[in-house]
Amino acid sequence: MSIKAIIGGQWGDEGKGKIVDLLSQEAQIVARYQGGANAGHTVYQNDKKIVLHQIPTGALRENCICILGNGMVIDPIGILEEINTLKKLKIKVKNRILIDYYSHIVTPIHKYIDKTNEKRTNNEIGTTCKGIGPTYSDKYNRKGIRAIDLLTNDILQEKIEKRLSAAITNNEIEKEDLETLKKDIEIFYKTTQEIKEYIRDTFLVLYNSQLPNILIEGAQGTMLDIDYGTYPYVTSSNCSSGGIGTGLGIPVSKINNIIGIFKAYTTRVGGGPFPTELFDNDGKNLGKIGNEFGATTGRPRRCGWFDLVVAKYSAKINGLTHIALTKLDIFNTFKTIKVCVAYKFNGKITANLSEVLNSLDNIEPIYQEFKGWNSDIENCEQFNDLPIEAQKYIQFLENEIEVPINIISIGPKRHQIIHNNK
Ligand code: IMP
Repeated sequence: MSIKAIIGGQWGDEGKGKIVDLLSQEAQIVARYQGGANAGHTVYQNDKKIVLHQIPTGALRENCICILGNGMVIDPIGILEEINTLKKLKIKVKNRILIDYYSHIVTPIHKYIDKTNEKRTNNEIGTTCKGIGPTYSDKYNRKGIRAIDLLTNDILQEKIEKRLSAAITNNEIEKEDLETLKKDIEIFYKTTQEIKEYIRDTFLVLYNSQLPNILIEGAQGTMLDIDYGTYPYVTSSNCSSGGIGTGLGIPVSKINNIIGIFKAYTTRVGGGPFPTELFDNDGKNLGKIGNEFGATTGRPRRCGWFDLVVAKYSAKINGLTHIALTKLDIFNTFKTIKVCVAYKFNGKITANLSEVLNSLDNIEPIYQEFKGWNSDIENCEQFNDLPIEAQKYIQFLENEIEVPINIISIGPKRHQIIHNNK
């Protein structure tokens, strides 16, 4: 029995999908514990690009059962689309995709409120408009609709009607949009009938006999965590490993490996502070070569250098035992690569993020420079095949974060991976 968790170490989009796909080979269960359709995990199967938003990436390995845990917020319309995509690929879904009874449900009302909030605040947070924040708000306000409610039509209808009338009373809905919203709710009702068969008590599946090999798939990243991220520019769940206990029912003490995924540089989508953001040609090149566009919204991602202050904080918050470093190949043509080693704030130098988390717009990053390797690394098979400059870059990060970097991704394909087991 082994339980591994994969956690985004930065602001999401670190390339978790590919690492989950790799590690799910040995798993009987792949499970998610937070977030919902705001995530976009990209994997390649036989050179075909597949993007999943809610269903864990492990779905592509037919030996895995996929659990969507109670800590998630589930959009039935989106889930049905993903199920149909998998069916078209001839991937079995029956009895393999399991939505927990107690996960919360995103309705068209929640998506509408999310979009309207963004419009009213001029996209201040820059959410994915997938209804995530409003659904979690209802959950914590003890007014949520849960997957188990979908199993009884009368209960579901009563809850939806109650939520709709509250939205009207609270001016959450513009009058002229009401009719369209009611039509969307009709589509929603029809969809719920089709996903009923996937709703289960997943606790019983997890704890069937002994816990089997489980891979836990985090979405978003530690810096978007509602508690530890750059609040309020965060998502509405605990993306860090702390969320696993409450969002899946697996206590952190049962987890053998917690693997942090870090891109070799940094990206962020949406609003909020980003200390190492680049506005020059290096930033443009990272975006262009790295194809940095959101998998869910298509928005261009903001790009910057690797931030060690963030990485050290993230390693501690998550209790990382290992690191997977992704997209190292994007630096192939860079003459110089920089890493932020500390921040300057009010004339003082610090490498401790918690001290300045609320003042990140006013810090100055302090960089250490590294020579680029200026060659293609996509075909390297072992750590020693990498150019010496790339080896030095990795070893520097590893020594500073004090967590072994034992997986290095050097291209989008499944085989473009180096295992660095010293
Ligand atoms: P929400 O999760 O849609 O409410 O968006 C809140 C913030 O988290 C916004 O800045 C989003 O761009 C960001 N975000 C949400 N999901 C992801 C993700 O999967 N990757 C990267 N950023 C995300």
